[in-house]
Amino acid sequence: MKESGVFERAFAKVNLALNVGGIRADGYHEVTMILQQVDVWDEIDLYKRPRFEASLECNLPYLVKDERNLAVKAVRLLQKTYGIGGVHVRLFKKIPVAAGMAGGSADAAAVLRGASRLYGLDLPDERLMKLAQQLGSDVPYCVIGGTCLAEGRGEKLTRIDPFPEALCILVKPNFGISTPWSYQQYHVTPDNPPADIDGMIEAMKASDLAKSASMMRNQLEKIAVEHYPVLGRIESTMMDLGALGARMTGSGPTVFGIFDDALKAQKALMTLRRQLGRMEIIMCRIGGKDPYHGGQGDLCEKDGRQGADRDTALPENGSEEDFES
Ligand code: C5P
Repeated sequence: MKESGVFERAFAKVNLALNVGGIRADGYHEVTMILQQVDVWDEIDLYKRPRFEASLECNLPYLVKDERNLAVKAVRLLQKTYGIGGVHVRLFKKIPVAAGMAGGSADAAAVLRGASRLYGLDLPDERLMKLAQQLGSDVPYCVIGGTCLAEGRGEKLTRIDPFPEALCILVKPNFGISTPWSYQQYHVTPDNPPADIDGMIEAMKASDLAKSASMMRNQLEKIAVEHYPVLGRIESTMMDLGALGARMTGSGPTVFGIFDDALKAQKALMTLRRQLGRMEIIMCRIGGKDPYHGGQGDLCEKDGRQGADRDTALPENGSEEDFES
């Protein structure tokens, strides 16, 4: 007999804007961000297990599956706070790992939502978001997804109008950028103007795609590009290929580009794949009023390049050699 469980989708996000402020008493930075869900998700099935169990299986062999994994931490948090029984998490990862797309945070948030349903707690979003704060700065947003203005450490969330619907190409280089390092280095990057958050919210409200895309900014990007010049090359290549805007998301290293034309986007996808064969490159939908929960327009699944066949080699650095002509 097939075991019954609950299913959740864990959606990835990009930072349309990321402004860094001062350092807080708790050591974190004040941030002002515009977060936007994209049409790329991990699939999560949750099953009941005997008390105290918190186990994880995943399609990616190299992913840490013990208590260090945020999904397992999310189960432990619900067990500690609400005394729920054991949970087994089956995770099918499609969001690039360590990419600046909140993949781990999205999984943890999905586990909070799903395990709460599995054990009939049916906790409201506000309660789940409070719990989520204990797991990481991006986890409260991942509980609700969509399009949000995020302030404070990233946990003060206000829903805003979505980014106008468009196509998005994601390029995840094969190296990682440490988030704490990125925030520390921010302080030694002068001439790093912030995003015009209010202006961008207005442009999004007016569904002005070209303006919204051209206003995207990330104050963690400058230092990343200085250390990994290939990121700047990816952005300029995307712009040359017709993107309306291209930026790094979060603390990187993923760069995303916005396209308003399917033909242009398809051509850009093919060119980027030819030039950057060793990188993970995905096309997906971004924005629009219609959330993606129905699984329609799932470009990334049809594409078949995500998940199991990802390149796991981790070069030391992102260099010009990553461009193959
Ligand atoms: O909360 P999270 O675990 O995602 O944060 C990882 C690290 O990123 C923190 O330990 C901190 O160094 C840095 N960070 C920060 N300010 C934020 C979010 C993250 O300094 N608002």
